[in-house]
Amino acid sequence: MTYTKYSISQLTSGAGLNQKVRVQGWVKSKRESKNVVFISLNDGSTIKNVQIVGDPEKLGETLLRTINSGASISASGILQTSHGKGQTVELAAENIIVDGEADPEIYPLQPKKHSLEFLREIAHFRPRSQTFGAVFRLRHAMIFAVHQFFNDRGFYNIHTPIITGSDAEGAGEMFRVTTLDPLNPPVNEAGGVDYSKDFFGKETNLTVSGQLEVEAFAQSMGLVYTFGPTFRAENSNTSRHLAEFWMIEPEMAWYDNNDNMDLAEAFLKYLVNYALDKCADDLEFLDKRDTQEEQQKPQHQRQELSLIDRLKFVSEHQFERITYTEAIEILKNSKPNKKKKFQFLIDAWGSDLKSEHERYLVEKHFKKPVIIYNYPKDIKAFYMRSNGDNTVAAMDVLFPGIGEVIGGSQREERLEYLQKRMKEMHIPEEELWWYLDLRKFGTITHSGFGLGFERLVQFVTGMNNIRDVIPFPRTPGSAEF
Ligand code: 4AD
Ligand code: MG
Repeated sequence: MTYTKYSISQLTSGAGLNQKVRVQGWVKSKRESKNVVFISLNDGSTIKNVQIVGDPEKLGETLLRTINSGASISASGILQTSHGKGQTVELAAENIIVDGEADPEIYPLQPKKHSLEFLREIAHFRPRSQTFGAVFRLRHAMIFAVHQFFNDRGFYNIHTPIITGSDAEGAGEMFRVTTLDPLNPPVNEAGGVDYSKDFFGKETNLTVSGQLEVEAFAQSMGLVYTFGPTFRAENSNTSRHLAEFWMIEPEMAWYDNNDNMDLAEAFLKYLVNYALDKCADDLEFLDKRDTQEEQQKPQHQRQELSLIDRLKFVSEHQFERITYTEAIEILKNSKPNKKKKFQFLIDAWGSDLKSEHERYLVEKHFKKPVIIYNYPKDIKAFYMRSNGDNTVAAMDVLFPGIGEVIGGSQREERLEYLQKRMKEMHIPEEELWWYLDLRKFGTITHSGFGLGFERLVQFVTGMNNIRDVIPFPRTPGSAEF
């Protein structure tokens, strides 16, 4: 007798009906009476479980005792129409093999509601839970949609290096990469560590961004993007910061900052629509979960819209675009500023915007995504194009509940402006000789931005903490698993 193997996603969407099928997965729950046993099984392919029905006598008590929540099993039988509540099909089991038992006394993922904090401590089991299954299927869908979006528009995906020899962008927030013996490093004449004896013959770090390298490809292949891991050693223990996160950085030849903003808005809307179109089951689950979570919060902190409505809202409304100067005016005159409710008060043009200000603009003032552009040059990176006043052609996209999801700019393509700015910011030319070369030979107008991938996944899943949208989070003091 041969059984055809199907995933639960296939079975619950119509495959295999009235046929001999085999499914494999992890037991969610088991209900047993004298004449019948029901096993609810999930294999991670969908949020839905498949119900397995069996005859306790035929399966035998010894076997049934080992079928507990968390055990892995292979079940074979006929897939038939179900008359029970909550499912359309069920598997009438002829044979069940327990592949791996899970002792109910000590299995950490009990069949009950666990806190997200507890689940972080068992990150190796949390994808077996409904919430994390849904989150990581959505994360996958977003990865796929990123590549689809760019491929459809003629962009090339470029892998930029993870280990970098320049720390121009990082300014002290980088993780060093070295093979030197920490107890006995070679010492140079000045008494410091002699990195010329290190693996790469110079100081190296993990990258904070692939932008500078991908610019070389924009200036040869036109439309390009990176999608890779980035590392920041900043000591920020917030719900929006990771020490290791993934970033998507498109870089476009002959785009000015307006083209840049147009692309960023189209990109985010595409991703949100993709989630709405392709991940309906998982979103429906996360929407219910989000609504329950919101109800735990005090009234004034609750989001006005449900998760799915928030996604639709973003896809249907034009983002508000304002200059930094306009943003400062709004914030200066805002209630929380006047009543000194902001932790950092906005008193003058030039102050950096903190998350509380960004969220005020998005959630209270405009009530929609906001793009702020033309920032003071002193709070932005050296490579951003000067507007000829005190501002640069930067742009940040701010989302409700999250704050900044995208940061980007038009790049300074004029050699002498770039050199002047690097000098002012004490960035040695020798370190970025190749970056300056790009301005010496065939320089062009170009722009780009970086989307923090986990912040996007937070937005589409409604998860409040960034640690809950990456498989194994790395944060200050924490790199278990
Ligand atoms: O604004 P950032 O620092 O921009 C850059 O790195 C540029 N090189 C991008 C470019 O123009 N190509 O970072 C971009 C985005 C932020 O908007 C934020 O969403 C995310 O990356 N991000 C983080 N996400 C998680 N954890 C952190 N520690 C993050 N730091 C930045
Ligand atoms: Mg930024």
